[in-house]
Amino acid sequence: MFRIVKAKEFQAECESLRLDGRTIGLVPTMGALHSGHRQLITMARDQCDIVAVSIFVNELQFDNPVDLEKYPRVVDKDLEIASSLGVDLVFTPESADMHPRPTLFHLEVDRLGDILEGASRPGHFAGVATVVAKLFTLAGRCKAYFGEKDFQQLSVISRMVEELHFPVEIVPVPIVRDTSGLAFSSRNLRLDSEQLKSALSLSRALFAARDAIAGGEKDTGKIEELMVRELRREIAGIAQSNQPELDYALVVDPLTLVEPERIDGPVRLLVAARVGGVRLIDNIGV
Ligand code: PAF
Repeated sequence: MFRIVKAKEFQAECESLRLDGRTIGLVPTMGALHSGHRQLITMARDQCDIVAVSIFVNELQFDNPVDLEKYPRVVDKDLEIASSLGVDLVFTPESADMHPRPTLFHLEVDRLGDILEGASRPGHFAGVATVVAKLFTLAGRCKAYFGEKDFQQLSVISRMVEELHFPVEIVPVPIVRDTSGLAFSSRNLRLDSEQLKSALSLSRALFAARDAIAGGEKDTGKIEELMVRELRREIAGIAQSNQPELDYALVVDPLTLVEPERIDGPVRLLVAARVGGVRLIDNIGV
């Protein structure tokens, strides 16, 4: 495995690997690699000749400077993990190289960027789209791996690739759950045991809605009510301060993220809630 810091060198290396006939799998990350990233890297390893992982804490996608400052930066540990997973190339650019100052250009994301997660984090998806577009320009023709856990991010990036004609195939990687159904997230580490129990409400609401749809329910409103009920149901034995606080529970079209009037085809069920002050998201395809 080798590490590249300069953007132009990364671009030249990807170009030369492709000229040698190798396929490239790109896994964009902000570091602090966890099991979700392992899943992305493992899938890229199975499908591509070369696995390239980028590690870059992108300031453009943070609306809160404190969050940006607190974001874990553990590059040495990340390099160890990447190497143990058989990664070939790690790209760790400097901020001044990725976003030379003053920056004159950035992407904007209409509609898809302002709803759901974008409503509580203004500018977040514009920042994600801008940095991912730069990474795609540097990596060139490749497959790029994104987790379904951040479903809105996956939708924004898939749409960006289609609309801006990047020569990139987006590979969605399914959510990893533990045996209780809880979706893996680095945020779970911030929850104590009572809050972890409470966090199970999210997947429980999704599974109940999925079962109702499988049982023939086609009314979007009824399915959303069912998820809201599940998320608002007080969990016995859990302190009031640790009960889930609902943000949204929606049925959406998997491509446009618009709510359909009726469920007549594939839909994505999305939920977001705070548990003990930690904002959690989860989703499932039906
Ligand atoms: O999902 C992430 O870690 C980031 O949003 C991404 C895609 C690496 C862009 O900075």
